[in-house]
Amino acid sequence: MIHGIGLSKSYGNLEVLKSVDISIHAGEIVSITGPSGAGKSTLLQLLGTLDVPQNGSIKYDGIEVSSLKAKNMANFRNDNIGFIFQFHHLLPEFTAIENVCMPAFIKGLSKSDAEFRAKELLTVLGLADRLEHKPNELSGGEQQRVAVARALMNKPKVIFADEPSGNLDTENANELHNLFLKLRDEYGQTFVIVTHNQELADMADRCIQMKDGQVVL
Ligand SMILES: Nc1ncnc2c1ncn2[C@@H]1O[C@H](COP(=O)(O)OP(=O)(O)OP(=O)(O)O)[C@@H](O)[C@H]1O
Ligand SMILES: [Mg+2]
Repeated sequence: MIHGIGLSKSYGNLEVLKSVDISIHAGEIVSITGPSGAGKSTLLQLLGTLDVPQNGSIKYDGIEVSSLKAKNMANFRNDNIGFIFQFHHLLPEFTAIENVCMPAFIKGLSKSDAEFRAKELLTVLGLADRLEHKPNELSGGEQQRVAVARALMNKPKVIFADEPSGNLDTENANELHNLFLKLRDEYGQTFVIVTHNQELADMADRCIQMKDGQVVL
């Protein structure tokens, strides 16, 4: 589904990615591990179209994403890709349900359709009674689940997660990991997860290891 070929990225003299080849198949959970500074987040940003490589090609189902114009790119991203970060980047002045609705509003879905799906997702994620709470009125684990719901809102082909359980306690981290598995099993959702959490890495169908800007395994 996603093919990255010869991806390179440098900051000044620092070669952060050295001609990385990577393929992600539909319905797969792939984990990316490796030491700090190995280039994991950088690779995720490139694959997620948030940043562009200096060299190389990224294709989604045969579409070369670098050939998309800025506006098409933004739409492509909003339709096909979901992001979950360690720090969830929820909008503080909006409620849980408003945060989850946001990608759908950008897509042009009606308020009632967006709210219907957001409610459905938040209910599946155990947040049915937290819809109207703002992020600062939610626990860390609850905020993380809101971020997951938001990432799923537009039924993206793939979800990129960077240290998704990094700021959760063991119990909440386990719940989040089980949720990923469930979403994959039920909806064939594709995940690419950067993590230092060995349990989460082991749970993946495939584990990619990075070191010094290269894929080593
Ligand atoms: N915008 C930037 N400008 C300069 N250097 C950068 C920039 N972004 C990342 N780097 C450098 O690129 C290297 C790889 O960074 P990256 O964030 O991809 O590592 P990582 O594998 O995700 O590490 P961590 O596990 O600590 O999150 C690091 O040495 C980092 O300092
Ligand atoms: Mg990182």
